[in-house]
Amino acid sequence: MAELINVSYDTQIPNNVSLSTDRRVLKALERWHPGYITWWKGLGPVGFQESSVYLRTAVSVDPKGWAKFDYVKMPDYRWGILLAPQVDGRTIPCGEHYGQPAWQEVPGEYRSMLRRLIVIQGDTEPASVEQQRFLGKTAPSLYDMRNLFQVNVEEGRHLWAMVYLLQKYFGADGREEADDLLRRQSGSEEAPRMLGAFNEETPDWLSFFMFTYFTDRDGKMQLESLAQSGFDPLSRTCRFMLTEEAHHMFVGETGVGRTIQRTCEAMNEAGITDPYDIDRVRALGVIDLPTIQKKLNLHYTLSLDLFGGEVSTNAANAFNAGVKGRYHEIKIEDDHQLKEATYPVSEFTEGRIEVKDAPALTAINMRLRDDYSADAAGGVKRWNVIISKYNIDYQMKLPHEGFHRQIGVFSAAPITPQGDVVAKEEWDQRRDEWLPSKADGDFIQSLMKPVWETGKYASWIAPPRIGIDNKPGDFEYVQLHMA
Ligand SMILES: [Fe+2]
Ligand SMILES: [Fe+2]
Repeated sequence: MAELINVSYDTQIPNNVSLSTDRRVLKALERWHPGYITWWKGLGPVGFQESSVYLRTAVSVDPKGWAKFDYVKMPDYRWGILLAPQVDGRTIPCGEHYGQPAWQEVPGEYRSMLRRLIVIQGDTEPASVEQQRFLGKTAPSLYDMRNLFQVNVEEGRHLWAMVYLLQKYFGADGREEADDLLRRQSGSEEAPRMLGAFNEETPDWLSFFMFTYFTDRDGKMQLESLAQSGFDPLSRTCRFMLTEEAHHMFVGETGVGRTIQRTCEAMNEAGITDPYDIDRVRALGVIDLPTIQKKLNLHYTLSLDLFGGEVSTNAANAFNAGVKGRYHEIKIEDDHQLKEATYPVSEFTEGRIEVKDAPALTAINMRLRDDYSADAAGGVKRWNVIISKYNIDYQMKLPHEGFHRQIGVFSAAPITPQGDVVAKEEWDQRRDEWLPSKADGDFIQSLMKPVWETGKYASWIAPPRIGIDNKPGDFEYVQLHMA
């Protein structure tokens, strides 16, 4: 098969995988396409399908220039299939087949394991679009609205990416799985999405920013470990997805940062120094810092749950098989087989938190989660720099790993964000100190008034420092067409 850097448009589906000569897969994708468009129009962004959005579209996988920007109506977006270029002589980077040539076809013994991993990843992509579908209506600016839709169309493309792998490499059951990805629905009773955090609501824009910062970052870590897969087509697919994913976390980090900045500015202007003077801060039309911290607590802990149990034989099996590696596997200096290695794992027994060494092979999830936490801490640090610039005595913090967990050793354990074990009753009583209460949610909701005038921003968020594609902040990022 010819190796393409640039996307070819000789079929309805833009791609760099020579689809025009791969009739069987092309037919399967063409059969799937109408259902996808129906899904997009039915469960994608509500109310803006006719508007022209200034979006980037991938036109190449060349890292030096892979995207172009232009006005597009979202249903006309050119969702395509793009794999990063094949690396010559790539070998399986971990597990019992370490050092052997990477697989170009699915190895029979790992077929169901691989299919399951691809389906789980694929399921998260449309789920987040569904979760965010109502947010356009309350966008705090056209700039933010455009960013939301950019994230949405790219999650749509990520679904295409996983569907391509299923249809190309997994025959009839792959096609069935591809159909099911459009059948499940976020928050549905009968057919929910597969993972917890993807069935939660995204009720407001602060949630959206926290979601893209924390939950898309879980996505990044999963893609990073799948990019280390010995199954080369999966690795190449994920490597290109990571290019797009970076923007999603940028939207989250800057979104939270701009929210914090606006709050601090308003506090300075009003001469309020106490961040806990919540009523007075809220009266300024901005979100008080302790409430932003509560949102952080919620989204961070929901995202930690996505890593699964700390100790996991499934994770060990996937690593051992060479189907899924660790974060930056090829940069790690060890045997890549973890024959003797141990890794510190938290335990919660008889009300005490302890850290014990476990076989590193079974602690793969824990390690990836630790890498995630370290990665997530970076943005928190930068948010705190904003706060200190305004001379406000407050710092955002990632809560303790045991706080508010539903999966793993800390599941339902009464642990505070500081990591103190308390009585269950005390935890229940103090819940609203740590997590957004109904009243917090109502207050944030009261601020969610659409601002759709070019260059204008809602009261609670600062304008961006720089625009998208070097455009100014008052650029018309969305040309509204209201039905
Ligand atoms: Fe994605
Ligand atoms: Fe994403």
